[in-house]
Formats: sequence, C-alpha cells, structure tokens
Amino acid sequence: MIMKMPDKGSDWEELRQEMIDRGAGDAKWREGKTAVYVFNAGEDVARVQKEAYTLYMSENGLGPLAFPSLKQMEDEVVGMGLALLNGNDQSAGTITSGGTDSITMAIKAARDFAFDNKAIKGQPNIVAPWSAHPAFDKAAKLMSLEVRRIPVAGSLLADVGAMAESVDANTIMLIGSAPSFPYGLIDPIEALGDIAEQKDLWLHVDACVGGYIAPFVRMNGADIPPFDFEISSVKSISADLHKYGYCAKGASTVLFRDKTLHQYMIFDCDNWPGGRMITPTLAGTRPGGAISAAWAVMNYLGIAGYCEKQKQVTDARQAVEQGVRQLGFDILGSPQLGIIAFSHPTLDVYAIYSQMFAKGWFSGLTTEPKALHLMLSPFHRSVTHTYLEDLAASIEIVKAGETDSVGEVRYS
Ligand SMILES: Cc1ncc(COP(=O)(O)O)c(C=O)c1O
Repeated sequence: MIMKMPDKGSDWEELRQEMIDRGAGDAKWREGKTAVYVFNAGEDVARVQKEAYTLYMSENGLGPLAFPSLKQMEDEVVGMGLALLNGNDQSAGTITSGGTDSITMAIKAARDFAFDNKAIKGQPNIVAPWSAHPAFDKAAKLMSLEVRRIPVAGSLLADVGAMAESVDANTIMLIGSAPSFPYGLIDPIEALGDIAEQKDLWLHVDACVGGYIAPFVRMNGADIPPFDFEISSVKSISADLHKYGYCAKGASTVLFRDKTLHQYMIFDCDNWPGGRMITPTLAGTRPGGAISAAWAVMNYLGIAGYCEKQKQVTDARQAVEQGVRQLGFDILGSPQLGIIAFSHPTLDVYAIYSQMFAKGWFSGLTTEPKALHLMLSPFHRSVTHTYLEDLAASIEIVKAGETDSVGEVRYS
C-alpha cells in the first residue's frame, strides 16, 4: 500500500477518537477474553506503566552519559532480576527490547565466547528442544548458525539424552525453556546442566515467560524445580519484563552468570567518524520509557505485589484445569506457571477453537498434540467461569457437527 500523507494535519481529539474506533474490532483483552499477547495485571498497574513510560518517553537508553537516571534504573531492574534468579555479585545483565532480543544477544555472546575459548571448526550449532521458541531460529539465521531441534520426550519436556547425543565440537549453546511457550512446562534444567557441565557447554535458560513468575509462585509455596543460576552451569537467562513482569511492552532482561560472559554481548565500535559507540543490545536507540516503566512497575508491586498477582494467575490456572478436566480434556503435562494447554481425546479442538473465537475469545493453539492453549494473566481469575461456560457450549456445537475448524495455527 502506498498512501499520501494528509495535506494538512488533523485535530488531535478527532484522531484520538478514530484510533479508539479502529480498535473496536480487536481482541477483547480488556474483558479478559484474550489469553495471548497481553498481560493484564489490572488498572492500577496499567496506570503506573503509562505514567512512568511517558515520564521518560523522549529519553534514550543509548546515552547513559546523557541520562544517568535511566542507567541507574536499568541497573536496578537488572539487579532485581538477578536477585530473583539466583545471580550473585559477579553477575550482570541488560534490559533489551524483548525476548527475541534477549535470546539473540545471549547467542551472540555464546558464539563470541566459543570463538575465543573453543576450537570451533566449521558452522557453529545450538542444540534446543523442539518446543523452544522460534526466536532461536531467527537469531541463528542472523548469525549463520545451525539449529538442532531435538524432538521432545513423551512428557513433552526436553529429551536430555537425545540432546546430549546431538552435541558435537561445534556446539556453542545448549538450550532449555522455563517454561516452553507451547506446553507451559519447565524443561529438566538440572539434567541439562549436568550435560553442560560434562561437555563444557554454555547452557541458556529461556525464561522469557517464566523468569518473573516462577520465583513468586515458588514463594507462594509451589515446588518449582531449580531452573536459574542456582544451577552452576547455567550461563545466561532470558526473562521478559513485558510478560509476567507486567511491565510496558519493549522490555526484557538478558542476564549472565558473570561479567566476563556479559562482555561478549556488547558491541563496541569506533571505526567511523562519529566517535566510539557502545551498544549492548541489538538496538541502537533504546526507548527510555520501556526502562522507566519497568523500574516503576517493579517498585510499585514489590515482592508482595508480585506474589499476590502470581497467586491470581495460579488460581486462574487451577480453576481452568479443574473445569476443562470435567469437560473431558486432557491437560498436557503438569503446568506450574501461567500457561496451560489441553487436548481432547475425541473432539477436534480446532473446531472448538473456532466456536470460542466466534464468542470473542482469542488464545493460542498447539499443533503436536493438537491442543487449546492459554497464557493466563491475573485478570483471568475473574473470567474463568465465563470461559468454561463458553467452552461447554462450544463443545455441544462441535458434537452436533455444526462447525468449521481453523485450518492453520499461526500468530501473524
Ligand atoms: C518462551 C519464549 N521465549 C521467547 C519469546 C519471545 O519473546 P518476544 O515476543 O518478547 O520477542 C516468547 C514469546 O512469547 C516465549 O514465549
């Protein structure tokens, strides 16, 4: 599409209204009917995000000398992330624009570390469970690396033995998810850690979804297995602030066991006429608002606030678990965090999805096995009843054979 800009500007109030009207056909996340893309922790948190974002909206994280305030906020956010994920005084990290950025930068660091410390001959590779996020493939494509996706075990968790067999002298990274996006299950990170230790490998834990929920669910009493720097061979972790950290979008953390590893991520260039430019992440300009909003939300909620919000997520998940079991679904594995996926032994879940979509629900699906997928927020606790009622009604329609089925699972 090519479109000429209006000859004259418009009144802001009119534009504002038009923007609101345009959103009328979008997913109904404010009503709690969306269980992917949006993390709704309530009006108060949204207000903190918005106001804190606008306070530093024009400032640029690219310039720590110009904006020491942002640098201080970033250091504190990273410090809080490290404390939650069992880092120590030697650990370091950076705020990035999101999970894909964090994963890309962790891989870049592991690759450069391997070039310096290992005898890499030929194309480097990374070894991941099949359930790992496509961000690994995107990063690998950018850096001409091979991705070895290894089928998951019957438990839908990373098959540690098969992954170990796939490692060779050119492997620069072993990957586990905490949890994986499709199944919401935490891979056996300790066992992956043993392999990493034996084979002297960089283990990255993708905790983009789990990093800012799992510690609080554990504090609330759940038996969450070790998945972070508590395991000595975990070298880096991606943990998204804009997911279960309830921060404004455009914010994740990439964390490293120690400062020397973190240094491999940073890009430092002075070979141009503009002077030395140091950029830690994939971006150049970094929105100050994403950093300031993250700082504000973390300080607004504090440990007690997060424990409360994550308890609401747990309650929502447990209510859904119980309800869908009664409706005849099988839950994939034993989810412990905010994602839950469930298949049906006889009915076409994609047909059920179509009915739910017609009722205004927007969520995910998985392909193997075919399952309905929900990424739950605190707000969902108040709508699980409606969800389950609509699900029951959808099942009846599908049983009566009166429905279409979504053909393909896609996110864009
Ligand atoms: C496990 C996991 N890793 C990485 C990502 C990528 O995060 P982002 O969309 O912020 O780039 C996601 C996104 O949902 C994810 O679920």
